Amino acid sequence: EWSMSNFVEEQTALIREQVGDKNVLCALSGGVDSSVVAALIHQAIGDQLTCMFIDHGLLRKGEAESVMDTFAGDFNMNMVKIDAQDRFLTKLDGVSDPEEKRKIIGNEFIYLFEDEAEKLENMDFLAQGTLYTDVIESGTDTAQTIKSHHNVGGLPEDMNMDLIEPLNTLFKDEVRQLGTELGVPDEIVWRQPFPGPGLGIRVLGEITGEKLEIVRESDAILREEISNAGLDREIWQYFTALPDMRSVGVMGDARTYDYTVGVRAVTSVDGMTSDWARIPYDVLESISTRIVNEVQHVNRVVYDITSKPPSTIEWE
Ligand code: XMP
Repeated sequence: EWSMSNFVEEQTALIREQVGDKNVLCALSGGVDSSVVAALIHQAIGDQLTCMFIDHGLLRKGEAESVMDTFAGDFNMNMVKIDAQDRFLTKLDGVSDPEEKRKIIGNEFIYLFEDEAEKLENMDFLAQGTLYTDVIESGTDTAQTIKSHHNVGGLPEDMNMDLIEPLNTLFKDEVRQLGTELGVPDEIVWRQPFPGPGLGIRVLGEITGEKLEIVRESDAILREEISNAGLDREIWQYFTALPDMRSVGVMGDARTYDYTVGVRAVTSVDGMTSDWARIPYDVLESISTRIVNEVQHVNRVVYDITSKPPSTIEWE
C-alpha cells in the first residue's frame, strides 16, 4: 500500500544501495524540489551528501540566510555556499534584453557550478529534484518557447556524475507532503514559485545594484503585508517588479522624480494561465503606502491587473 512514510523508507533504502560509500552532490536553491530532494538524501546517507548553494545576488531579501540557517543549521548538512554576487552583476553589466539576461544568468550558473563542483573531490553522484511533471513535460513545455526558463534542475548533463532523481515519480503536491514528512519547514514546503533568474528578470532592462535593492526591499514589504493579511496560501505568486522608468511626484514641498514599483499578484493552478488576485483595497493601500515610505527612490506604486494570457506572470 502506498503511503508517504513507505515511500521514504523505500527511497532511502534505494539511495543507500545505489550510493554505497560514495558521495553525492546536490545543487540546493532553497526551492521546494531541491530542498526536499536534499532532505531525503540526507536522511538516507547523512554526511555523504554535500549541498552547494549559489548566491547569485538575485535572491529575495533574507533568502540566502534562511537557506543556510535551515540546511546548514537545523538539518546540519554539509553545505558549500558560493557568494557570486559580483560575478553575476559584472556579467550582466549593461545588458538590457530579457532573453540575453536569462541566458547569461543560466549559463553563468552552470559554469560556476561546474567549476565549484570540480573543486570538491570525490563527488560521484549528482542529485536533482526532477519531478514527474518535468519528465513528461520536457520538450513539450510551451512556456519554454516563450521564455527560456532556467532553474537549478537544468544542470549540465556532461558532468562526470551519475544522476539521482528520487522525486521523478512524484507530483508537486506529493513533494510538499514528502517535505513535511521529512521535517522541511512550511516556509519552504509552501514557498511560492521563484524563477531561476530571480530578481534579475524583475528589474526590467539593465540591472544595477540600486535597482536590485529597490526590488528586494519592496518585495519584502509586499510579502509581509500579504502574509499579515493571511493571503499567502490563496495567492499563487506575488512579487514586485521595477520598470525602467521614473515619474514625477511630490514629497513634502519638493518635487520628486523617482521610480515606479509594479506589484504583481496572481492566482493560478499551474502557472500556464493566471488571473490577477483580487487583493482587498485596504491591503493594497498598506502595501503602497509602506513601499513609498520605506523604499528610497520610489514615489509611485501600480498594481498589475492583466491576466495570462495575454500577459505573462513575470514582466520579463
Ligand atoms: P511566465 O512569466 O512565463 O511564468 O508566465 C510562469 C511561471 O514560471 C516562472 N518562471 C520561471 N521559473 N525559471 C523558472 O524556474 C525561469 O526562468 C522562469 N521564468 C518564469 C514564473 O515565476 C511563473 O511561476
